[in-house]
Amino acid sequence: MFKNINPTQTKAWKKLEIHFSKTKSVHLKQLFQENKNRKAEFSLSLEQLQFDFSKNRITDKTLELLVELAHETGLKEAIDSLFQGEKINTTENRAVLHTALREFKDNKLKIEGASVYQEINNARQKIKSFTEKVISGKWKGATGKPITDIVNIGIGGSDLGPKMVVEALDFYSNHLRTHFISNIDGDATHQILKRINPETTLFIVVSKTFSTIETLTNAKTCKNWLLNKLSEEAIEKHFVAVSTNTDAVKNFGINPTNTFPMWNWVGGRFSMWSSVGISIALAIGYDNFEKFLKGANAADTHFKQTAFDKNIPVIMALLSVWYTNFFGITGEAILPYAESLNKLVAYLQQLFMESNGKSVDRNGEKIAYQTGNIIFGSTGSNAQHSFMQHIHQGTQLIPVDFIGFKKSLFGDQKHHDILMANYKAQSEALQQGKTKEAVYLDMKFNGNTNQINKLIPYKVFEGNRVSNIFLFDNLTPFNLGLLIALYEHKVFVQGVLWNINSFDQFGVELGKEMAANS
Ligand code: F6P
Repeated sequence: MFKNINPTQTKAWKKLEIHFSKTKSVHLKQLFQENKNRKAEFSLSLEQLQFDFSKNRITDKTLELLVELAHETGLKEAIDSLFQGEKINTTENRAVLHTALREFKDNKLKIEGASVYQEINNARQKIKSFTEKVISGKWKGATGKPITDIVNIGIGGSDLGPKMVVEALDFYSNHLRTHFISNIDGDATHQILKRINPETTLFIVVSKTFSTIETLTNAKTCKNWLLNKLSEEAIEKHFVAVSTNTDAVKNFGINPTNTFPMWNWVGGRFSMWSSVGISIALAIGYDNFEKFLKGANAADTHFKQTAFDKNIPVIMALLSVWYTNFFGITGEAILPYAESLNKLVAYLQQLFMESNGKSVDRNGEKIAYQTGNIIFGSTGSNAQHSFMQHIHQGTQLIPVDFIGFKKSLFGDQKHHDILMANYKAQSEALQQGKTKEAVYLDMKFNGNTNQINKLIPYKVFEGNRVSNIFLFDNLTPFNLGLLIALYEHKVFVQGVLWNINSFDQFGVELGKEMAANS
């Protein structure tokens, strides 16, 4: 179980405070000059991923102390509790078993007497057979036509993951067109209904609780729209559901055989590896969906088995704690250099901010140190033409994750070379900056001698801004699954170190109640 330790009271924390006061002004340029092997020494690999964390304001000593903090706060025991299905979500008295959703051998776990592996495997078989029928055209709509359009109706964890992955892996997609309805804004719903044909559309209502007002309202609108054109019997061929609440699904009129399971031991924002991901399996085929799960499983194995100083998600989290609680950062940016990962940041925002935006610790005490950060970002190079100014020259330190792929999917090398040159240049510019002398020489060389002294201060870059580099061979279902699971484990490790429960989300309730009462 968790140790529930206030991290600021640990020995490691005190040592980190002293270490921070001694090293906080050291420039990354100096660290690279002092150690020619720094890039190699602060790089790790996992499957096809090369993770380079050398552009962080750390030394061997920093890492050693952060790892000490992880041990002192009981990270090892916490990881074991996670994988063993202990009820670590204590405020809701639930296990947290999204990792089991991407296991392919029996982990022998039982929840309320039922084999977790068996339940997951049964669900997988059901997804496989259903998606194969829809993709092949064997599943027919009420008027005998094959399905052409899928509409996923859900919100938050029942929307963001599937929507992000379907777009990210569009390269692998088949003939089915996939749409997502999440917002309660009826205009958005009708915009989608305008484009589709009821005879060839399949709606998937995804809601763990089947009580979410946005999802139920949208589902009813879609059902009425369908019934305007087709008979009541058509529901069976055009509506399926994913939920834990089978009674509510039945009351809505969806056939229980068309209901895919969810379990209360999977949190909404960790759920796309379950039946919640059915739109992913429909869009890219079940085999690709399984590759996606296997990528996540590779990250799980690495997380579970690797020593902390070589453990990628542990290091990602330790760095975040280092910057948050010692440098006082409040934001972290994520920049995928692939336009198809356009929705990754919105997905990760929910993952991080719904999980770790907490101010009461696991002992029920108000927290006096910072937890959580504002997660933001966008695809590179678009970001370079919007908010990157703030990261390069603003007053705040904002760590950046650069995510890139060596090969493009369509093989347009000309584009890809420019994209990757930018990917590389941004992290180097952040790290090195540009000195007064370099600005002066540049301006002189370009003949801008008029206002040289006046402009120099504006054109200087301090550098010493930090980033992590994630480099994969290419964007595949496996690599995407692996990447997302690394972020999930980063969230988990942060939560353990900050002594908070990352798995409840009471903070979203008050606004909902007030809206319902107004
Ligand atoms: O209100 C927040 C939330 O509970 C999220 O955590 C969840 O992902 C989303 O709403 C949707 O919930 P449901 O799947 O039960 O409709």
